[in-house]
Amino acid sequence: MSFEDLHKATAHQLSAAVDSICKDFEVDAAKLDELTAYFIEQMEKGLAPIQDKQTDKGLPMIPTFVTGSPNGTEQGVLLAADLGGTNFRVCSVTLNGDHTYSMEQMKSKIPDELLEDENVTSDDLFGYLARRTAVFLKKYHPDAIAPKAGGAAAESLKLGFTFSYPVDQTSLNSGSLIRWTKGFNIPDTVGKDVVQLYQDQLTEQGLDMVNVVALTNDTVGTFLSHCYTSNNTDSLTSGEISEPTIGCIFGTGTNGCYMEEISKITKLSDDAREKLLKEGKTHMVINTEWGSFDNELKHLPTTKYDIDIDQKYTPNPGFHLFEKRVSGMFLGEVLRNVLVDLHARGLIFAQYRTQAQLPHRLQTPFELDSEVLSHIEIDDSTGLRETELSLLQSLRLPTSPSERKEIQKLVRAISRRSAYLAAVPIAAITIKTGVLNKRYHGEVEIGCDGSVVEYYPGFRSMLRHALALSPLGSEGERKVHLRLAKDGSGVGAALCALVA
Ligand code: BGC
Repeated sequence: MSFEDLHKATAHQLSAAVDSICKDFEVDAAKLDELTAYFIEQMEKGLAPIQDKQTDKGLPMIPTFVTGSPNGTEQGVLLAADLGGTNFRVCSVTLNGDHTYSMEQMKSKIPDELLEDENVTSDDLFGYLARRTAVFLKKYHPDAIAPKAGGAAAESLKLGFTFSYPVDQTSLNSGSLIRWTKGFNIPDTVGKDVVQLYQDQLTEQGLDMVNVVALTNDTVGTFLSHCYTSNNTDSLTSGEISEPTIGCIFGTGTNGCYMEEISKITKLSDDAREKLLKEGKTHMVINTEWGSFDNELKHLPTTKYDIDIDQKYTPNPGFHLFEKRVSGMFLGEVLRNVLVDLHARGLIFAQYRTQAQLPHRLQTPFELDSEVLSHIEIDDSTGLRETELSLLQSLRLPTSPSERKEIQKLVRAISRRSAYLAAVPIAAITIKTGVLNKRYHGEVEIGCDGSVVEYYPGFRSMLRHALALSPLGSEGERKVHLRLAKDGSGVGAALCALVA
């Protein structure tokens, strides 16, 4: 066989292998039906009492103690702090009371050692958060923290804390970490009250005047901020709601929340439920933590790459398995695993004879960013030149035109599976709450945030396509409005702090 024939044969084998992998990433209408029905079942199960929250594999369905949605008239100046997957943000939020707000903020990238060093403690992490808070206050509110004449006490500053990890919330301002997700792995935080940990470190920094009065999740923040900025007529303080909408995040991680009837949240104690009902509260926001949907893998589509990533490269194997197929943190990692496997099978990157010779970055878990996939997804340049540059720049990986063609197929299969799966919780919550049937021509608004939903090309249209294929059907899909709701973790936390 000539060299050219040999090359053609390998290109053909690569293409056949890639087609077969892409097939494993397909999610069809029947699968969407099955997953949506199972999601509804899991929501119902998760609303009932759970024995051991740290080992339970079901949908967490966490009561948030947020019992109303804002109507945009809320006013005040509040602090907010937000610990997400990659950054810590401190903000001072001014709610103008007319659906608008202004915000001063300081964002810091979480130092790698806090994410990677095994010996990091809660005090190290929360000490860092408190020090960044002090830097922010010195810059933006120096008077508020300056010593007062005659030793008088400083005026208290209310702070809402957005902590975007699963927390067993016990009240609006307390909750213990169930488990870390995304990048963190600090075992001694698990089971501890994260508000207390933060408050203690603020005190250490001499910031006793800062009171962490509310704890919230970014998805709840997105929901509240969406309600505040849009024209909703009921009030956060009255405890009334109009149509239950959904707040959701498709970014580094994924999650969603919605308004549930308090009478159905049987995991709240009878006393707590009765008290809330007596106060006239009828609904509460539930943080579903849908990243943990189907941790038992009864229905989720699963490839060998998903199993490897979960088991070999994540600190929480067996948990957050939905997130590991959907969110931005994992899209690049799935592609990286597929490429390394195709190389091991002798089908791609033949210039590297062994795995050890592959570019270091291609061998490094989580080095391939989903942003690179977003460039490849829409590359229509001749010979996929953009893809070539993108892979060279990000991974130092040279590719041939035929390899790039196959890589693009893989990228599109991975992102499509992500967007199709993302439709499942939205369809399920819409059906469970019956929101589309509650009003004449019922419509549902969904506040979304996160880099994937905001920037990944085609993600929203693929999600919509999947909603139409799901049990919602195309008529239901048309009534679901996905709206970008920005600054949820700042504005939402401030709204929570306001009513605390
Ligand atoms: C966390 C959620 C969070 C989501 C989006 C997930 O990993 O468990 O609490 O809302 O990421 O940031």
